[in-house]
Amino acid sequence: MEKRRLGRTGFEVSALGFGGGPVGFLGTDQDRVTNIVNYLLDNGVNFIDTAAGYPGSEEALGNAVNHRRDEYVLVSKCGQAFDDLEGEAWSAQVIEQTVDRALRRLKTDHLDVMLLHGCDQEFLERGEAVEALVKARDAGKIRYAGYSGDNEAGLYAAGLDAIDVIETSVNICDQANIDSLLPEAKGRDIGVIVKRPVANAAWLGVGQQPGFYANYTTSYAERFGAMGLDPADLGGGDWAEIALRFTLAQDGVTTAIVGTTNPDNAKRNIEVAEKGPLPDAAIATIRSAFAEAESASGEAWLGLR
Ligand SMILES: NC(=O)c1ccc[n+]([C@@H]2O[C@H](COP(=O)([O-])OP(=O)(O)OC[C@H]3O[C@@H](n4cnc5c(N)ncnc54)[C@H](OP(=O)(O)O)[C@@H]3O)[C@@H](O)[C@H]2O)c1
Repeated sequence: MEKRRLGRTGFEVSALGFGGGPVGFLGTDQDRVTNIVNYLLDNGVNFIDTAAGYPGSEEALGNAVNHRRDEYVLVSKCGQAFDDLEGEAWSAQVIEQTVDRALRRLKTDHLDVMLLHGCDQEFLERGEAVEALVKARDAGKIRYAGYSGDNEAGLYAAGLDAIDVIETSVNICDQANIDSLLPEAKGRDIGVIVKRPVANAAWLGVGQQPGFYANYTTSYAERFGAMGLDPADLGGGDWAEIALRFTLAQDGVTTAIVGTTNPDNAKRNIEVAEKGPLPDAAIATIRSAFAEAESASGEAWLGLR
């Protein structure tokens, strides 16, 4: 498995990472999570992403792999308010409690990166949320602070000295950050984690996904339909392969954290990641299809949170 440097953090992380969203939102059972994540660690993946906001995900990952804590770079996210925590969203009070709770749930004494989970730019400008992460870093609870988000807010965050890592959407159906945030991050030596790297399996179509994801995936499924791509024009392979290899090919991407609840897909994603980037001609076709469909839609296809 190819390793890439996560910007100025210096962590050497696998090009394929694990995204802990679906196992939380879909309530995947503990044995299945344990099997998937240990399989990935056994096969070269060393990057795990989760969040306070993915129900049960931090706990399940803590149970699954805490005994191997020195084998992976661990990222979680915070800032949202929760019923069982005191304080407003994006306040220092909530962030401090969420960091401490993440350490308990993930059964560890430190997180490698803690990200602010998609706050609007006004909360970045206010400073309190970023300062709370700096305080957690100074206390040794987290190693680096980061921001998860897109578009203008992502660009603003990438310009903050305290922000060493950005998590953002890049995929075949979400290309807005490719020409803006990726070069900015690269120029500042900021590591980039790609969320939604296989476009939430947009090829399945509108409303065809389970639970939480039935609505969550609608915009990508609509964009995918409008792009009218044909895999035969893209060098072969199924959509999951084309999508992951497209994302991994983008300059400035450090790791693509594919979410999966399926051990067969976890295995397949390792095989695909090892094939390396998609050929340039296929990438150009996908980029043109996005630009043309966006233009025809009459609205800007921004990076989706
Ligand atoms: N910060 C944020 O605001 C934010 C937002 C979104 C995501 N994230 C993070 O980014 C991670 C990745 O995003 P995501 O999970 O939303 O989207 P994703 O990784 O683009 O797509 C996940 C979907 O792809 C399917 N899939 C994975 N591998 C496949 C394969 N080989 N063949 C066919 N289908 C495959 C999964 O289904 P199966 O379960 O059936 O494999 C799941 O439905 C999340 O898990 C989370 O950690 C962060």
